[in-house]
Amino acid sequence: MYLISELATKAGISRTTLLYYEKQGLIKGHRLDNGYRHYSESDLQRLFLIKQLQSAGLTLKECQSCLEAKLDKSILSERLTQLTEDIQKKTQARELLLGLLGERSQRELHSSLSKSAPNVHLNWLNTQGYDEKEALRLKWLSKDMNEHNAYMNDFMTIFTPLEQWAPGSKQDTLNAISLMPNQQMRRILEIGSGKGGSTVLLANNTKAHITAVDNEPVAIEQLNQKIKDSQLVDRISPVCASMTALPFEAKSFDAIWAESCVYIMGMENALQQWKPLLKDDGILVVSDLVWLTDMPDENVKQFWLSNYPDIQTIPTRLKLFQAQGYDVIDHFSLGLNAWENYWLPLKARVEALQPTMPTSQALLDVEQEIGIYETSVAKDFTYHYFIVKPSK
Ligand SMILES: C[S@@+](CC[C@H](N)C(=O)[O-])C[C@H]1O[C@@H](n2cnc3c(N)ncnc32)[C@H](O)[C@@H]1O
Repeated sequence: MYLISELATKAGISRTTLLYYEKQGLIKGHRLDNGYRHYSESDLQRLFLIKQLQSAGLTLKECQSCLEAKLDKSILSERLTQLTEDIQKKTQARELLLGLLGERSQRELHSSLSKSAPNVHLNWLNTQGYDEKEALRLKWLSKDMNEHNAYMNDFMTIFTPLEQWAPGSKQDTLNAISLMPNQQMRRILEIGSGKGGSTVLLANNTKAHITAVDNEPVAIEQLNQKIKDSQLVDRISPVCASMTALPFEAKSFDAIWAESCVYIMGMENALQQWKPLLKDDGILVVSDLVWLTDMPDENVKQFWLSNYPDIQTIPTRLKLFQAQGYDVIDHFSLGLNAWENYWLPLKARVEALQPTMPTSQALLDVEQEIGIYETSVAKDFTYHYFIVKPSK
């Protein structure tokens, strides 16, 4: 037998709560001759059970019905579903903490953070001492930052000699140029210009001066060489800068051109940050990876959800333009040949490097990506060009 204070200590429940439970008929004390209320072992056991049921999400009333065997089974099923969801969330939270403490794969940590909190993830990488360029790459690649330098070196070893760093074809770029309504443009800003394949096409097929921005010095160096070789020194100005902090005044450009690079800062951010740089009646040409179906192959779906979580269908992207204050002038998809221009040389490069870097994670990742292209490109997903302008 227990006094109420003893019962409170044993059950870990306050005296006031016990008095309330007593009022509700959940426990029943017996007044002894000395005037004190005493509680039985069964009362204590009932209290333990109530605590457990409450942890499982039952209200006090539901606990009472349960103890009286009157609770509907459907309520227990509902509570079970909710509890299972809560446990999953807690397990994820635990993995997050283990990841932050370095006790789990950093790769999974980046992958999950870039999906659940892309902007916070980027800021967090910045606070970890990564400069913006590295942070964007880590975010985009969801790679293991413990092996970051080796990974990036391997990545550049694979890509540096390749002419195309993204899918595309001369014909598609010319098509996008022809869809820009104002053909009398004076200044075009190309963002993420890479080695300048499209930069030269823009210079040769418009009258505008092209400012070509990329944050990769290797790309800028090779673009400079290309400009000299094509005698376009007066028409193209390469600038090594980040697309997230463009060093230009507002209303400087008749058009902004961004092929296969908007994923780096995210479409929504780009649409907000780049708009002020456009003159009135300015045009934005931007290409982005999109789903061509609502039901992509599961493997492909998982691949892009971890490599480009913001991949959307074309209708969803069209809605975003509208929501961000842009009118869509035209849009079209890249065909298979544009992809082959990219991944066939990439595949040959990977095969050539295999013997010298067989364990490279970067090489394995690129191989996996090529596998995805081989099975599903232009069927489940592709790059899509959008020609848009700020709404009036
Ligand atoms: C996939 S490539 C596309 C290159 C080119 N536009 C094309 O379609 O072939 C992405 C380009 O964006 C550049 N890039 C990556 N992060 C950047 C940043 N923060 N600011 C500017 N350029 C960036 C890369 O160096 C690379 O040249």
